[in-house]
Amino acid sequence: MNDYRRKPYKALSNTTTRSKMSMCSRTKYIWMDGELVECGKAYIHVMTHALHYGTAVFEGIRGYWDGNNLYIFRLRDHMIRMINSAKIVGLRLGYGLEELIDATVKTVRVNEFQENIYIRPIAFAGEGSISLDISKVPTRVSIAAIPFGHYLKPKGVKVKVVSWRRVPGFSMPVMAKASGIYLNSVIALSEAISSGYDEAVLLDWRGYIAEGSGENLFIVRRGVIYTPPVYASILEGITRDTVFRIAEDLGYKVEERDITREELYVADEIFMVGTAAEVTPVIEVDGKTIGSGSPGPVTQKISNYYKEIVLNKIPKYREWVTPVY
Ligand SMILES: Cc1ncc(COP(=O)(O)O)c(C=O)c1O
Repeated sequence: MNDYRRKPYKALSNTTTRSKMSMCSRTKYIWMDGELVECGKAYIHVMTHALHYGTAVFEGIRGYWDGNNLYIFRLRDHMIRMINSAKIVGLRLGYGLEELIDATVKTVRVNEFQENIYIRPIAFAGEGSISLDISKVPTRVSIAAIPFGHYLKPKGVKVKVVSWRRVPGFSMPVMAKASGIYLNSVIALSEAISSGYDEAVLLDWRGYIAEGSGENLFIVRRGVIYTPPVYASILEGITRDTVFRIAEDLGYKVEERDITREELYVADEIFMVGTAAEVTPVIEVDGKTIGSGSPGPVTQKISNYYKEIVLNKIPKYREWVTPVY
């Protein structure tokens, strides 16, 4: 057995060591239950309900630095989704939309970031009971932000249609961005990576394409863009919605409809979208080259337009962008 597994977790029990951990090397403060606390002290108890049962809802939000200011993208929409996720799961949030938005801006500002960041708000069932009944457990909320670069290879990823299926909406509320559901994504991604791929594609319970482990998926065939509908067990992504608007602006037709596995193989282009993944080209599926094997023209146009929107360069999308400073 590896040595580290046997060692007690002693080094982490003192705060100095904690604040030296990489997570806190560039994050000074984290917002926890209404207060800003030092990053190295933002810890929770091992009996936290969410740790045991996945009883948490969260968001992933990006902030973009343009050299002068930092812009948080679609902050309001992410917080609305978090409130909706909490409602679906039955977590009482205790904070309203404006409070969550203000807390996020405050947290980013106090950290004085001057680079691209990722913001992770999370609401979780805290400590006090091991009962599955979350009404007995207080909800806690935190908002953290970290410097963040690319999540997937920007020049294109190789994906595998994995054996795990996306959890169906009749077993889990897939519309909620809930922690417990992410075990599905974790095992799917793990299968793809251990088989030598960059990312997983999951089929839904019927066998149609659902999405990636953390991204929605689009294909381009004969000039038309297709993406799976929400009933294909997908997370209703905010970037997916942004792509709908971009496609309209660029004059492309987008259809939400079921996509089969073999349609992926013969697509002219495929791209995956998500807050972390942004607009990432897919260049290979199950070992088969997609299109020319490099990012296609539609993907590139959408990706470039997306980059301009998030950096507040397109006036009509300014309502989506929250300047921090
Ligand atoms: C499973 C899953 N699907 C899709 C997405 C894309 O959602 P969004 O564009 O809102 O980040 C994500 C990322 O959050 C995700 O985790």
